[in-house]
Amino acid sequence: MDSYATNLLQYIPGVSILEGAIQSVLINILKTGPIPNHLSFVMDGNRRFAKINNLPLKEGHRQGADALARVLDCCFRIGVKNVTTYAFSIENFSRKPEEVDTIFSLLKVKLAMLASENQLCDLHSVRVKIIGNKSYLPEDILSDIEMVEERTKHHDKHVLFIAFPYTSRDDMWYATDKIIEKFNNKEITLDDINQDLFQNNFYYNELSENVDILVRTSGHTRLSDYMLWQCHQDSVIEFPNTLWPNYRFYNTWWTIFKWSYYKTLIIQDSEIMQLKKISQKDVDEKYKREIPKIHPPFASVNKH
Ligand code: FPP
Repeated sequence: MDSYATNLLQYIPGVSILEGAIQSVLINILKTGPIPNHLSFVMDGNRRFAKINNLPLKEGHRQGADALARVLDCCFRIGVKNVTTYAFSIENFSRKPEEVDTIFSLLKVKLAMLASENQLCDLHSVRVKIIGNKSYLPEDILSDIEMVEERTKHHDKHVLFIAFPYTSRDDMWYATDKIIEKFNNKEITLDDINQDLFQNNFYYNELSENVDILVRTSGHTRLSDYMLWQCHQDSVIEFPNTLWPNYRFYNTWWTIFKWSYYKTLIIQDSEIMQLKKISQKDVDEKYKREIPKIHPPFASVNKH
């Protein structure tokens, strides 16, 4: 169903109450199984959404920001601890200055909203962390970032990482640079340099987490220099065709449901393997007890 039809549905009496009830049931179903710890989104397709719907480009990004609010609400209600979102790549600075300005002003509005009372962060106890190369940002955005990080730092149930302006390579370079500096200042020795130290020096710092599910909307199957370290052997990467502004509760729910289903199968498999190991051990024990204390001569490897 397209966003126009779903928006219209909201105005039919009783529909939003019914929808709220359906969503609560679906969330409760998910809560009976494993929940991912970290979800990450590449919010792709805002400009194509605007073009297809004959809207100004600005409106595509604005509806993209609204979609993010809905998706975050869904993730936090389900119980996902960390969510990371790729709001602006360092590469995006090559876009037209008017578009960069649009995204920056949108971000300012959204940061103010996140910091205000009784909004998403207060409702779900969400700490906001902006990760990225802040040297690219103007003073006014820097002070907004400081304000929202300060205002939400006491929240301890969820973390929302906003990658802005960010690339994984820049993050890895930043960590390497910091480690070299610490080494030169004799704060660490060569023996201290390992994967944990590297990871703890990312923009993410001590809150850095492996990602369980990475979603890139709009059908593009590229990582765009994102989550290169955080994706590990068990990370699931999804490339739905939905344009980001059309991505909503049911898309998020379905993505987590699939992950949870496969995770349950894996857990069950490993429990069965564990049981098999135990029963094999029992058999071995029983067999050992039945072995005669003195080996019969034909089974002996001794010469006598
Ligand atoms: C990618 O779609 C989207 C962006 C570069 C900007 C995303 C930013 C927002 C949705 C605002 C975020 C707000 C907060 C609070 C984090 P695109 O422009 O590349 O679209 P296209 O693939 O159709 O060209």
